[in-house]
This record gives sequence, structure tokens and C-alpha cells, in this order.
Amino acid sequence: MSEVEIGFTLNGAPVQGRAEPRTHLADFIREEMLQTGTHLGCEQGVCGACTVFIDGRPARSCITLAASCQGADVRTVEGFDDDALMRRIREAFSRHHALQCGYCTPGMLTTAYDIVRRLPDADARRIRRELAGNLCRCTGYAGIVSAIEDVLANDPPTAGLAAMPRSVPVAGPAASPALSEPGITAAAGSHDPGALPDAASLKGAAHLTRSLTLSVGAGEAWALLSAPERIVTCVPGAGLTGPVEGGKLAGQILVAVGPIKATFAGRGAVTFDAGRRRGGLVGRGRDALSRTALEGMLDFVVAETGPGTCRLDLDMRYRLAGPLAQFGRPELVAEIADRLLAEVAAAIEREVRGDGISVAEAPKPIKGFALMVQALKAMLSRIFSGR
Ligand code: FES
Ligand code: FES
Repeated sequence: MSEVEIGFTLNGAPVQGRAEPRTHLADFIREEMLQTGTHLGCEQGVCGACTVFIDGRPARSCITLAASCQGADVRTVEGFDDDALMRRIREAFSRHHALQCGYCTPGMLTTAYDIVRRLPDADARRIRRELAGNLCRCTGYAGIVSAIEDVLANDPPTAGLAAMPRSVPVAGPAASPALSEPGITAAAGSHDPGALPDAASLKGAAHLTRSLTLSVGAGEAWALLSAPERIVTCVPGAGLTGPVEGGKLAGQILVAVGPIKATFAGRGAVTFDAGRRRGGLVGRGRDALSRTALEGMLDFVVAETGPGTCRLDLDMRYRLAGPLAQFGRPELVAEIADRLLAEVAAAIEREVRGDGISVAEAPKPIKGFALMVQALKAMLSRIFSGR
């Protein structure tokens, strides 16, 4: 396979090198850039030893293609040598005997840094939950948890914050003007404020807007979209787990990414405005195995574009928290969402034509890995075609 030119910022300095498109970031950093602080354990995204920061978010460098980091800001454990906050974390690790062989330690330190910055009020239980994606064969974790508690208990963790770039939300093509009005899901009293997310609680969450062109009439599309039992059959991996009552629903969505399988089960609320053919969904779910939480809201509007055609405008806000959040790089999620939405659009057209899938059919998981591969291919082709 021919090599490609790859350039990004590594620990504050621009780096340039050549590698095959399939080369993982961890291999590129270790073998091309000769920075061996990043360790490789499982090489399939499970153990967390290879965790680095990409654009301010922790990510598994063993399942991130180096070429997909074109232009990104990558920070490895070496990049924290002079960081005051990381110095405190390192000292706390020493005080609490939070390492033995040290193999997991670069990933543990990176994850600890993220926890301390993001969750200043985290208690031991929360710290353990956040560390669930990092495996240590030696310590039994007690010292690691104590070290992080120690840092959180002493002095607010302000140092290091300014130096870390933050990812920006990814927005797609402009949505319809109707969606720039206050969304249905943001309307006061449109859902249970005690349990479900709303516009305020999702402030700062990742944001995606998309428009789908459908080869079905606006009325037919609306009839399908306003029937939760029907539209759910058009979403790969999704299913309802009970009847829809008073706009409240319970459901689940299956996601399979390589060796990782997650079933987000939760509940939500739907609202519809038939006059304007617009609706909203808010929901919150959790994968019990990985203890990863997903919450979000979706506004949609159907616009007539001609006889037998319409446009579906979507405005989504979502937040992932917990171990699997490391797979939620906004750019990658956006690419995966595009491919998933293309499948949904085709399923809507089939359903309206009457040859859709049966409601009783067991939901198939989202093929996250296949979608991710497609998404990465698309990103790479954009990167190397200069678009
Ligand atoms: Fe990357 Fe294990 S080596 S998660
Ligand atoms: Fe040995 Fe964690 S200290 S694997």
C-alpha cells in the first residue's frame, strides 16, 4: 500500500511523516516520531494503555488512524512533562503507590488528567466509573483512585486547563430556517424536566445538523415520522421495549464497534406539531456493561420540495459520558451519522412504499465498525484530495 504524508501537532510541535493509510496513531507516534511513552497493550481499544489526547479529548491511539489526525492537536504523556497539573497527579501517584510495573501508567495518567479537569467534584465511585476503560494488572486500582481523590481534594485543578485545546462542536450543512426557531424539544414543559435532558442541560453538548432528501411525499414522510412504532423500524439497531403512552417511550439501541458491543437502554419523550410537520425527541440511555451514558435531543421538520419528494431537516444535540465516550470524537460521529442517516433514509422510502422491515423483526446492531471504516475512508479521501 502506498504511503501518505501525515502532519499534525504532537506535544506542541508540528510533526510530519509518511505512513500507510492503515497505520495507527500509536504506531506512528512510537515508530516514526520515536516517542515511546504511549504504551500498547491490547491493540483493540479495550485496555486504555494507549490513551492520548486528541484535540483535548482522551482517545485510544491504537484504534485511531494516524492519517485521520491530519491537522489535529495530539498530546501524549511526554507532552505533560512541564504541566503543573500533571506534575501534581504524578506526585499523587507516587505517594499512593498507584503503579507497580508501570505499563498502564501513561494511559492512567492521561485519563486521570481528564477526570480531574472535567469532574472536579468526582467521588471515589465516580472516579472508578471513569477509570473503567483503563485496565491495570498490578495495583488493584485502590492507589490510583486515592491518587486522583487526593488531587481533587487539594487545590482546584486550574493549572493545565488553558494549555489544552478543546474540540469544537461539529455542525453539518445548514438546517432549514424552521429549525433555527426554538426547537420543539426545547419548549418548556414538553417533557419531564426531572428526568430527561433539555436544551439547558445539553448546553455545550456536541451538535449536528443534517438535511436528508427523501423520494416520498411530505405527507407520507410525516405520517411515518410521527408514528414512533413505525419510524423505529427504520433505524438500524433500534427498538421499542414497551408501548408509547402519552408521548413517553422506552427503547434501546444496539451498537457494535469492533470487539465492543453496547446496548443503550433508556427512555424518552416525543412531541409532534402536525400543523408545521415538525417534531422532537429527547432521551437518555445507558449501557449497563460499560456504564456509558448517552443523552440527547433531536428536532426534525419535514419540508415539501415537490411532488413525491421532501426534505427532512434534523438538529441533534448529544452527550456521551463514561468509558465509551472515548470513541465519540465529533468528527467521527458526524461521519458515522451521515452513513447511518443514509440507511435510515433508504429504510423510510422502503417503508412508505410498503416493502419495509417488519416491526416484529429483531433489531440488528448498528454496524459501528463498518460505518467507522467507511467514515475514515471518507475522511482520508477528503484529507488527501485537499477538500
Ligand atoms: Fe489501545 Fe489497549 S492498546 S486500548
Ligand atoms: Fe502494572 Fe498497571 S501498574 S499494569
